[in-house]
Amino acid sequence: MKPTIDPHPWKLTESSWNPEHQILSESLFALGNGRMGQRANNEEGFSGKHLQGTYIAGVYYPDKTKVGWWKNGYPEYFAKVLNAVNFIGIHVRVNGEALDLATATQVSHFHRELDMHQGLLRRTFTATLANGLSVRVEAERFLSIVDDEVAAISYKVTVEDAATVEVVPYLDFNVVNSDANWEETFWAQQGHASTPGQGHVHAKTKKLDFHVAAAMHCQVSAEGQALNAHASGREGYVESRYNATLPAGQSVHVLKYIGVVNSLNAAPEQVVARAEEQAQQAAAKGYEVLRNAHADAWIAKWELADIRIDGDDSAQQGIRFNIFHLLQTFTGVDARLNIGPKGFTGEKYGGSTYWDTEAYCLPFYMASTDQSVAKNLLIYRYKQLGKAIENAEKLGFTDGAALYPMVTMNGEECHNEWEITFEEIHRNGAIAYGIYNYIRHTQDRSYLAEGGLEVLVAIARFWAQRVNWSDAQEKFVILGVTGPNEYENNVNNNYYTNFMAAWCLEYAAECAQWLATEQPADYAELLAKLQLDSDEIEQWEAIRENLYFPYSEEHQVFLQQDGFLDKELIPVNELDPAQRPINQKWSWDRILRSCYIKQADTLQGMFFFEDRTDLDVLKRHFDFYEPLTVHESSLSPCVHTVLASRLGYKKKAYELYLRTARLDLDDYNHEVYQGLHVTAMGGTWMSVVYGFGGMKIVGEDLHFQPFLPEQWTGLSFHLRWRGALLHVQVAESGLTVAHKDGPDVTFHVGGMAHTLKCCETFHA
Ligand code: BGC
Repeated sequence: MKPTIDPHPWKLTESSWNPEHQILSESLFALGNGRMGQRANNEEGFSGKHLQGTYIAGVYYPDKTKVGWWKNGYPEYFAKVLNAVNFIGIHVRVNGEALDLATATQVSHFHRELDMHQGLLRRTFTATLANGLSVRVEAERFLSIVDDEVAAISYKVTVEDAATVEVVPYLDFNVVNSDANWEETFWAQQGHASTPGQGHVHAKTKKLDFHVAAAMHCQVSAEGQALNAHASGREGYVESRYNATLPAGQSVHVLKYIGVVNSLNAAPEQVVARAEEQAQQAAAKGYEVLRNAHADAWIAKWELADIRIDGDDSAQQGIRFNIFHLLQTFTGVDARLNIGPKGFTGEKYGGSTYWDTEAYCLPFYMASTDQSVAKNLLIYRYKQLGKAIENAEKLGFTDGAALYPMVTMNGEECHNEWEITFEEIHRNGAIAYGIYNYIRHTQDRSYLAEGGLEVLVAIARFWAQRVNWSDAQEKFVILGVTGPNEYENNVNNNYYTNFMAAWCLEYAAECAQWLATEQPADYAELLAKLQLDSDEIEQWEAIRENLYFPYSEEHQVFLQQDGFLDKELIPVNELDPAQRPINQKWSWDRILRSCYIKQADTLQGMFFFEDRTDLDVLKRHFDFYEPLTVHESSLSPCVHTVLASRLGYKKKAYELYLRTARLDLDDYNHEVYQGLHVTAMGGTWMSVVYGFGGMKIVGEDLHFQPFLPEQWTGLSFHLRWRGALLHVQVAESGLTVAHKDGPDVTFHVGGMAHTLKCCETFHA
């Protein structure tokens, strides 16, 4: 059962009410502004199945680890982004009967709308309550992207028959995380106060002392007449109660302005005053002014980040939905923040940072937002380098080797399954790849001296210690790992992991050489700081040259890991559909022994380094591995879409694209109720721009090799590239690249190089 989302290029709209869909729609229609985010919960409350969720970026709780069997090296806690203060709440009672769509006897004219162009959530409906009275509600709200500590709600209730309406805007900090390991509450209330129409609540986390305060300022009127309020409060809760006796057809209108301030951005003793100030200033500006400024800012964001697809509304809606959630999850203003796999739309994955950021999200931010946004994602990891070194030390590594965590909030590892925590070490490769990708996209090599090289050296040191010499192979090997395909654990010589290790060693050496030549003083300083010398760099080179890669002469492919050919290789399309998804139908033991691949693994390496992979080599690997891939990770279809596009497998590319772009909208995996796959949305962007748009970086050069899926009549997007802004248009008549701003850009189409100045246009 899933909500029907009507196709529309800029909006998600749902035009029928079904209480069972509420928990799914709360995820789909979620709002965020980078600083905070929330599920699309109903303002008036909902007693049916739902997940109340408001999350403040970077405010987390170290929830004590819960595992059956403890293993040395497990982290003590799992960091969770906390469910925080419910600031949207407005109780509504009509002649004493609570408005609640779960208990209403009839709900009609229901319309829920997420206006992605302007960042607004709207809901209108008529509800008949158990006492027989009907009301019409028109609600709109937003989390401001102009001032990211402010939210505002407009909520209007109109009675069909004469009735007394009570509206009670409130703030409630008595919230829990549904995923708490030990059913603890995470907040300690610090105080509350209320006066008519105003109030605040203030709490701090029981560990780590993050303070959050929310304040409200309400203006409530009935047909233009301001109403007086009765204020009250108790621990963690404040409200203002308004009553109006209305003749038939009249309305009561609530404007609720909210300020939410946390101690990442203010001193703990100032969060209350700041939140009150924010709410008050918002009220002084007024709803229309705030909303228009917010909507204009969204429209401006879209100018550069939009992808336009002509001829296919469903695909258009899909890609904008993905871009919208990426933009509202991370705005790049704060290098302490990152992108959790579910963004602000649910609790799964704890809102923590995964390799997803560098591997799947960074390309979107580099191409669609200011360069500083992507750079802040790199700085985030640089700031956590010390913890990554400590993390490696806990596992027995020395001399400044770093192992970045699989899951983290502050740099410490939070994951607690041995086969991932200790074995899914390929993530270190993605951190280095992020630096490489950023530099080749932006040409901002200054980052190497600012921290990039330190990260690369520490990662290289990890790999140099993690390999061991095998007399049998007469090569270096990497034993006991889990590759990106988590349906295999504790394997030896996972091709992807070995490939990334070798490349990290090479790239760290290359960057060291570059800094030595171009910025010798910075290099000398770094050598001293890191106690790095040429012998160590030569050792990296020796390992890289002698690293083992399992290969099958018979199939002419690199093997995903040692022994892969011992498996029964039965293609996925021969599996009984009733057996799928295998992660829900099979025992873990059966999955591990099977040949089925959760997500791109060997192919992930070829995707990252397509310029090192000849097309015939890519084809052999794609033809061998894709038929064995079940795509049971949201991160899988996108990579395969890009590779299928390169290979001219147009039908396959489109089929996989739909799986990624509408994964959540169509709830393919029946898990949207938990939240959206926000990091996979970066993959969707790559599917379109790298796949159909044919953007490819070969060495240092930008290439385009586009194609239009049959279902589309046109595709266009902006691309930021090395300080310039391009507009790329793919139509049935060919490719057009328009240079909009910045320095000259050289790109390659069909083997020919072309250079454009501002404001020239290329067409082929
Ligand atoms: C995937 C990982 C990913 C994680 C978070 C898992 O299902 O296998 O690659 O990092 O989800 O998105």
